[in-house]
Amino acid sequence: MGKKNNGNGRSMEGIYSFYSPFYDLIFGKVLEAGRKKAFNYLNSFNKKVLEVGIGTGLTLPHYPKSCHIVGIDISAKMIQRARERVKQMGNGLKVELQVMDACRMTFEDNTFDAVLSPYVITTVQDPYQFCQEIIRVCKPGGQIIIVNHSKDPDRLLGKIESIASPFFAKVGFVTDLDVVSLVKSTEIEIQRIIDCNLFNLHKIILGQKPMHLT
Ligand SMILES: C[S@@+](CC[C@H](N)C(=O)[O-])C[C@H]1O[C@@H](n2cnc3c(N)ncnc32)[C@H](O)[C@@H]1O
Repeated sequence: MGKKNNGNGRSMEGIYSFYSPFYDLIFGKVLEAGRKKAFNYLNSFNKKVLEVGIGTGLTLPHYPKSCHIVGIDISAKMIQRARERVKQMGNGLKVELQVMDACRMTFEDNTFDAVLSPYVITTVQDPYQFCQEIIRVCKPGGQIIIVNHSKDPDRLLGKIESIASPFFAKVGFVTDLDVVSLVKSTEIEIQRIIDCNLFNLHKIILGQKPMHLT
């Protein structure tokens, strides 16, 4: 599978900035099981962790205090909410937040011990480039964890997901992306895929950047 474009003409920055005041209400609890479960697999020895598409920072309470977290998001308003959360938490967690496009990150190659991205890959314009950027900024052997709904190509449900996708694209994400196949088509070494969330429709993809890639 090569590049896949969401074909969503609307700006994700605009959509998520609009959601920002009530994002937690809509997407907080309903996606929380997957966020929480993903943290069972984040190696505790990771020091510098990048979270791509951190949104309002709902994952922040799950990080061990030993981590230095760098969170990016394309929406300045979502980042503002995340900043407020860091202040409210006030527990000394080391967090840096920046407005940045995940598909054109400004970090140096091989910067992070781990890269985590919950519920973002189906919101970006170019999911393949998104994976390439994650690989680039992760250190060789570093952990890569992607959490998302993934279209099932073999089931009736997959057909429904394809039909419904243009509607969901208007509200912030697509449902017709086979995320598992896409990630498999990149150099990310997949170690395990774990089901999560309602009806186990979402996947936690646990992988790493190959040791030989620099
Ligand atoms: C469904 S929300 C997920 C937020 C958060 N990860 C969570 O678990 O709730 C998708 C997030 O990805 C961000 N996003 C969309 N496209 C992006 C891009 N190209 N670069 C960085 N962030 C992006 C949106 O602004 C939004 O905050």
